[in-house]
Amino acid sequence: MSSKPIGIFDSGVGGLSIWNEIHQLLPMESTLYLSDSKNAPYGPQGKDAIISLSIKNTEWLINQGCKLVVVACNTATTNAIDTLRNTYAIPFIGIEPAIKPAALQSTSKAIGILATKGTLSSQLFHKTSELYSSDLLVVEQEGNGIVELIENGNLYSEEMKRLLQSYLKPMLAANIDYLVLGCTHYHFLTPILEQLIPANVKIIDSGKAVALQTKSILETTALLNTEISGSRQKFYTNGEKKIIASLLNIEHTTLQKLDF
Ligand code: DGL
Repeated sequence: MSSKPIGIFDSGVGGLSIWNEIHQLLPMESTLYLSDSKNAPYGPQGKDAIISLSIKNTEWLINQGCKLVVVACNTATTNAIDTLRNTYAIPFIGIEPAIKPAALQSTSKAIGILATKGTLSSQLFHKTSELYSSDLLVVEQEGNGIVELIENGNLYSEEMKRLLQSYLKPMLAANIDYLVLGCTHYHFLTPILEQLIPANVKIIDSGKAVALQTKSILETTALLNTEISGSRQKFYTNGEKKIIASLLNIEHTTLQKLDF
């Protein structure tokens, strides 16, 4: 069982940032990445739709023999992870906006959270936010339109820059010193954001924490692969192969197109 792949899914290409952290930390593990780009973005869809898309992705990964599933999407995690854990026997790792480390380290006592509507409106997000925000200001901002631009290959565009400038404005006016990226797609914005924010504002996401948690759960469930060689990394998408290829810097012929 331990030689089976880790399954990773996202509404699209954002979870590749999580795949990257997992692959760096656990190179001996085989992985199977599922990009549900045809149905992206999940953020504006209601909870029920997000749950059924998450079930569809999970069942596909389980049918491929995955030993554990990483929900590499804040929107799917905050809306569907309880249902997934209650329905399937395999372990699940989820991702949530990194409010806790930002809140604990903020000295200006103001932090910004950029996330999707689906994440910001979820109960799970509200619960975490309330827990850590009693003595600080949390400026929440929906990142409408960002996922679409990334999925369409327009990461480095004037439109993206304009959108980000408008989303950052209220945060910078509130004197934030931490910017939490609460959507896995947003990790790819980091070089653009660094040009738009003052040097004292730190960008924080949950990618490394998810990789560490994956390792820890594999260890405690005796599913960690100890074979040093032979791991395989596979990528499946029901969208454009070239977007994944450009973000991973690999030829798109190593990816598989899926009718799904
Ligand atoms: N990568 C997803 C997340 O982390 C994007 C959500 C969407 O598809 O709207 O929330």
